[in-house]
Amino acid sequence: MGKALEGVKILDFTHVQSGPTCTQLLAWFGADVIKVERPGIGDITRGQLRDVPDADSLYFTMLNHNKRSITLDTKNPKGKEVLTRLIETCDVLVENFGPGVLDRMGFPWEKIHSINPKMIVASIKGFGPGPYEDCKVYENVAQCTGGSASTTGFPDGVPLVTGAQIGDSGTGLHLALGIVTALYHRTKTGQGQKVTAAMQDGVLNLCRVKLRDQQRLAHGPLTEYSQYGEGIPFGDAVPRAANDSGGGQPGRILKCKGWEKDPNAYTYFITQAPVWESICDVIGEPGWKTDPNFATPKARLPRLNQIFERIEQWTMTKTKFEVMDILNEYDIPCGPILSMKELAEDQSLRATGTVVEVDHPKRGKYLSVGNPIKLSASPSEVTRSPLLGEHTEEILRDVLGYKDNEVAAIRGAGALDPAPKRAAAE
Ligand code: COA
Repeated sequence: MGKALEGVKILDFTHVQSGPTCTQLLAWFGADVIKVERPGIGDITRGQLRDVPDADSLYFTMLNHNKRSITLDTKNPKGKEVLTRLIETCDVLVENFGPGVLDRMGFPWEKIHSINPKMIVASIKGFGPGPYEDCKVYENVAQCTGGSASTTGFPDGVPLVTGAQIGDSGTGLHLALGIVTALYHRTKTGQGQKVTAAMQDGVLNLCRVKLRDQQRLAHGPLTEYSQYGEGIPFGDAVPRAANDSGGGQPGRILKCKGWEKDPNAYTYFITQAPVWESICDVIGEPGWKTDPNFATPKARLPRLNQIFERIEQWTMTKTKFEVMDILNEYDIPCGPILSMKELAEDQSLRATGTVVEVDHPKRGKYLSVGNPIKLSASPSEVTRSPLLGEHTEEILRDVLGYKDNEVAAIRGAGALDPAPKRAAAE
């Protein structure tokens, strides 16, 4: 069975997290992803947060599956020739360099477009055009400047960043969609184009409901926020909403049995209006179904603390999994707080390939997150990340058609190896 993106060649200039997330997805869908790395150095994450000496870190391996690696010094004249051949041959160039790097390398969009008018050039930057366009940006900067941090946390606490990498991996996802869309457009026009995704924009897109609430504020307080029921006045910007649900249904994280020792013995409980009567039955408060203080969503708003305290009395008598089993029978939505340990051991996630075990020649077996997007006719097999420069000669010969003597000449010109190795060879 052919993969959905089989035949698409990606010239992958990405590094760290945001760009590699994007190209890994494309690789899982069948694209041939050729990762270009600096000789001797490679993607900086290969050496970051190392847990096994001399082996590529999990940071790197978990973001670069199914790719091939070529080392190439793109500032070397011979390296530039090889890069030109790669541009002629590939369909998409993906990069998340700092602002201006491609231009300084001698390959601005105009030049790439003139070499290969069909090429799609896809870029992630921290900010779009404007006052911050020249800034380098990492995950938490994007979370802070995209509206996530100001709306995450407790109303009386400092802004918080979230563990979900919405700035990096989130923007990588956005870019992948842009690339596939541009590929589809190219089938009709034959033309490449530039695709850009700024991390600030990606985070703001994911915080859409908070911009919704910002505008609602102009028309009165946000009644579904807990602080409304608690009588705390609103300021002129959307406040942090603790664990309130963004959809307007009151929700909280509540303790479950064992919470005293287990930091994850909690569940998310939503008092969704359509299932209110079932909630009253389950927690042993049938009288609340008709009591005018509790019977309607509006009546409940000023009493949310009392209501959730009562529900928590019930959830504390059950484990988070028992809570889930009981509530699901009544179609009451809830979410046990699953630890990374529990997710790593979850057999149903293993069965679907969302959690996979991968073997690596230097580090042995490790767990990774597989492709979370399932295509019935293009299933993903996760293969290990490449070693630095593992496919250099294979790509030069098989993809670019260089003969052995030409490969030797490129190597001799110092385009494939780090400077010290070159010096020793000379
Ligand atoms: N051969 C020769 N030189 C190479 C090379 C190669 N194969 N690959 C990269 N380089 C050089 C570049 O030419 C550039 O050199 P220059 O600054 O002299 O022009 C340098 O390596 C890379 O620069 P940069 O991308 O700015 O790396 P950095 O480590 O200084 O900054 C980031 C890292 C992530 C902050 C920056 O890349 C960035 O802001 N990216 C966009 C936003 C982003 O994706 N952030 C999230 C990352 S998870």
